[in-house]
Amino acid sequence: MSGAALAVDLFSDTVTRPTAAMRRFMCDAEVGDEQQFEDPSVNRLQEMVADLLGKEAALFLPSGTMCNQVAFAVHCRAGDEILLHETAHPLLYEAGGAAALIGAVFRPLTGPRGMFTAAQVRQAVRPAVHYMPRTRVVSVEQTANIVGGVCWPIGEIEAVCRAAQDAGLVRHLDGARLMNAVVSSGTPARAFADHFDSAWLDLTKGLGAPVGAVLAGSRGFIEEAWVFKQRLGGAMRQAGIIAAAGIYALRHHVDRLAEDHERARRLAAGLAELPGIAVDAARVETNIVIFDVRGTGISGDEFAARTLASHRVRFSVIGPTTVRAVTHLDVPPGGIEVALAAARAAIAEVARR
Ligand SMILES: Cc1ncc(COP(=O)(O)O)c(C=O)c1O
Repeated sequence: MSGAALAVDLFSDTVTRPTAAMRRFMCDAEVGDEQQFEDPSVNRLQEMVADLLGKEAALFLPSGTMCNQVAFAVHCRAGDEILLHETAHPLLYEAGGAAALIGAVFRPLTGPRGMFTAAQVRQAVRPAVHYMPRTRVVSVEQTANIVGGVCWPIGEIEAVCRAAQDAGLVRHLDGARLMNAVVSSGTPARAFADHFDSAWLDLTKGLGAPVGAVLAGSRGFIEEAWVFKQRLGGAMRQAGIIAAAGIYALRHHVDRLAEDHERARRLAAGLAELPGIAVDAARVETNIVIFDVRGTGISGDEFAARTLASHRVRFSVIGPTTVRAVTHLDVPPGGIEVALAAARAAIAEVARR
């Protein structure tokens, strides 16, 4: 489905295209050979993110998925165990990378809204006996994506990370949408990242860059991460062209995330008024709205097909009757009203059958 054919694309915040100003900034980027540490734009972006996250060093990578894989590769030996939520991205959507590339084992933890507790971490850590996997990493997703862009409160992060540290675990932050959590909560990025040995943020998604993510940690961690970046084919050449988009995004697209959050709240409030749609509008904290269409008598697929056909509005379907909408930079003015009209029309058409 071409985004150009759509009136409003709420499929994901990954659908944004670089703005004209971002493209101009990319065009003018100073570049060099990244693998020789000679790309000034890559170096600048890495310094910016290291500073933002309060870490010694950072590493530009092509994607958030590679940030997770590289971090796990540094932290784990084959057979080691990673604790994470059962809905976490590396478990569901990274093609089994941690098992295939690193030989690590996932131990999914349960809990409401993508979160787990310090007590669960303490309980999950295995005793150091030779026939058990070595529990090595705890990974936290901020915001928790597929459960609805949920922000882990800083207090919960502190408690989970303290429990992990006491148990000798390494702490990893999947910050694909960390800046959404920062804008929503008012907690600085480094206050979240402080509790983790490795942390990263995506430059795509809400920040609107076309490519890239940046992984940060201690100098020693980043030196090791470079080895895996190279090994996985993530080392680039004149990558400043794309790093520049990240620099631009960090300068110009962070504060505006509040607008995406406001639109998501407005969408959720409007959906909550429609018959047959269940949504907990009060719980929308960032740019993701999850809702259930069971009460309308149609499936999520049919709902999405109808909004697409009638108003060229795209939602994503994540369960038999569960639909996800994500707001972002490219939602046009009035787009939320069009999306609500599309949802209203889909329900009205079904009621007339
Ligand atoms: C929580 C989370 N982690 C990791 C990723 C992977 O990021 P990327 O698409 O940059 O590989 C995503 C992407 O949606 C995500 O939502």
